[in-house]
Amino acid sequence: MTEIYADHAATTFPRPPEVVAAISDYLLQIGCNPGRGGYRRSLEAARLVYEARLFLAALFNVPRPEQVIFTPSVTYALNLLLKGLLRAGDHVLISSMEHNAVVRPLARLTGERGINVEILACRQDGTLDPLQVKRALRSNTRLVALTHASNVTGTILPVCEVGELLAGSGVLYAIDAAQTAGSERLDFMALNCDYLAFTGHKGLLGPPGIGGLVLSERAAELTLPLVEGGTGSRSEEEEQPSFLPDKFESGTQNIPGIAGLAAGIRLVASSGEISIARQKQELTGAFLEGLAALPGVIVYGTGDPQKMTAVVSLNIAGVDSGDLSFILEQCFSIMTRSGLHCAPLAHRTIGTFPQGTLRFSFGFGNTLADVRHILGALREIIREKQQIPE
Ligand SMILES: Cc1ncc(COP(=O)(O)O)c(C=O)c1O
Repeated sequence: MTEIYADHAATTFPRPPEVVAAISDYLLQIGCNPGRGGYRRSLEAARLVYEARLFLAALFNVPRPEQVIFTPSVTYALNLLLKGLLRAGDHVLISSMEHNAVVRPLARLTGERGINVEILACRQDGTLDPLQVKRALRSNTRLVALTHASNVTGTILPVCEVGELLAGSGVLYAIDAAQTAGSERLDFMALNCDYLAFTGHKGLLGPPGIGGLVLSERAAELTLPLVEGGTGSRSEEEEQPSFLPDKFESGTQNIPGIAGLAAGIRLVASSGEISIARQKQELTGAFLEGLAALPGVIVYGTGDPQKMTAVVSLNIAGVDSGDLSFILEQCFSIMTRSGLHCAPLAHRTIGTFPQGTLRFSFGFGNTLADVRHILGALREIIREKQQIPE
């Protein structure tokens, strides 16, 4: 049976051959560290890293490529900005759709540094009224951190509107673009944000273990590094360099990951995020339409493909989401993810805590035929479970 991978919100699979080739080319043809030697291979590695930074700066409309910092993941990027910025007495606003990559570091900072975190309640479909942010601002609000799109329901949050209303307020603004980088247009300047955290292994089609953070000049100045060490620059000094990107990039980097990510970005740029978003909307629209015709299926989120990414969470009355995911893989070779998706707060918001949901997420390589196959499988499972006659 043909495998259908419908867990792109977790990671992209299969990786495009261009990405695999770029990783293996780096390992075979270059294989050395950038910036640590003056020989050809080291210079080529430095060029590869610089080119990847340029691609990302162009993709996200960042004024200087040095404002793009490579990190091992978006989780690391979010930890870096939260722990590097927040101090005792700071007030932080987040939405009730955030991932644990934001919630857990903040929980630690609340206990250890005495910061004050306020969670803005989203509607049950995951949407947020941007005016809630305005109303909740206080004199000590240091940061607003929002996910661009929920990894549970795909709901897109009003990140542009919030950027507009925060502009000139002095409050820093962070966007978690884990679910949207590569599949929604992200313009760092137009978003009016100070931090854009992204991951390389989802919509950007790269390998696991690579992500990054874009920082505004003011955020770069105000944020302390999470890790200090060798940068290949100012080695005579004990202090970490204060310039970008070295302030935040210490130690040997994941160059194979960066090579693979650069190849992924090239693919994304050649299709264009708008056309990628449209293709995904087509799949999501067809899936939602098919689900509406199935008895006993509860779909969460807005139900509007224009207002969401290609992520659909559902439950089937009387069936555990974990069992459903297991049956889909065992009997139909369909790969999905069930449970809480590392976002218990989002599940509380949509009313599915603690049981969670079954999540389908579409991406590179998925087709309408996949969607039809998944709908057919669900129809069969429902018929079996509810003993509905054919
Ligand atoms: C919204 C969101 N934030 C953060 C993360 C963490 O991503 P990573 O595991 O790549 O660090 C995810 C991953 O699913 C996510 O969906």
